[in-house]
Amino acid sequence: MSKQILILPGDGIGPEIMAEAVKVLQLANDKYSLGFELSFDELGGAAVDKYGVPLADETLARARAADAILLGAVGGPKWDKIDPALRPERGLLKIRSQLGLFANLRPAILYPQLADASSLKPEVVAGLDILIVRELTGGIYFGQPRESKVLESGERMAYDTLPYSESEIRRIAQVGFAMARVRGKKLCSVDKANVLASSQLWRAVVEEVAKDYPDVELSHMYVDNAAMQLVRAPKQFDVMVTDNMFGDILSDEASMLTGSIGMLPSASLDANNKGMYEPCHGSAPDIAGLGIANPLATILSVSMMLRYSFSQVAAADAIELAVSKVLDQGLRTGDISSPGTTKVGTAAMGDAVVEALRSL
Ligand code: IPM
Ligand code: MG
Repeated sequence: MSKQILILPGDGIGPEIMAEAVKVLQLANDKYSLGFELSFDELGGAAVDKYGVPLADETLARARAADAILLGAVGGPKWDKIDPALRPERGLLKIRSQLGLFANLRPAILYPQLADASSLKPEVVAGLDILIVRELTGGIYFGQPRESKVLESGERMAYDTLPYSESEIRRIAQVGFAMARVRGKKLCSVDKANVLASSQLWRAVVEEVAKDYPDVELSHMYVDNAAMQLVRAPKQFDVMVTDNMFGDILSDEASMLTGSIGMLPSASLDANNKGMYEPCHGSAPDIAGLGIANPLATILSVSMMLRYSFSQVAAADAIELAVSKVLDQGLRTGDISSPGTTKVGTAAMGDAVVEALRSL
């Protein structure tokens, strides 16, 4: 039976990087007889333009019916001034929430070939392999009430709410422990329990879940310290589990350890491992249409999709090996280029990965 994959290229550089990822996916589909059928739709600003909303009901229905979703990126200046409820980002948040994709896995792995591209000293990042497990459907991103208003005094004020229930914390903690168990057996839970009530509950629940994973070493860290430790001594971390907003921030920070945010894939999974896969970077409107964006984060997201949603380990490994071979050849997009390497554009990078995969 064929597997349905819904492709949502999105905005900005989304369509460019997705075109390369689709080439790689199609080759993997043929080479490993994966039986995938691809279909395409819009999300974000592109959906606002086509359907009048950032996530159309019919797109959501297609996403529900699909076996996995591959997403580019959303957002851009063209839609910055529209009604906040119609912002492209709302489409992304809605699809995450409606599909129950609460577990966001963001691996930060340094390809040895890119040690010079990191802004940190090579010895600080050499061999880096961190997995950030970010809670994705709760916390301050979705908390109610949230409001922007004008007080009687005429002063404007706004607030958001940061709620977490026990069950939301428990299920993401379980993912963190399960991931740590099959990796380096170390889990660092990141919170702000010295200030926030939601973090105090977070810490208590993580402690309870830890009892089921005695083989995993648990530590806790405040988010400000974690941000500092990530650039001071990042190799102390194996798996980090944290809330929605802290995970958003720390994953951007961790990406720079690997040379560029253009290298970071992600998986967002529901309770049954159905997933949406996307690069961690945004739509980069400043370079959209120039053909210079790095497609590797999206290509590596394809590999995560094969691994997590379809258990196609050989095909997933092959894509990662193909990326590594291309880096060995010295090919680099602008964001990861360094002296002595060959600068290439988006399509040339994608083609090189396709060729490397073909010849494996
Ligand atoms: C990410 C992005 C999104 C987020 C934006 C585009 C809403 O920054 O996936 O990290 O904040 O989750
Ligand atoms: Mg982010």
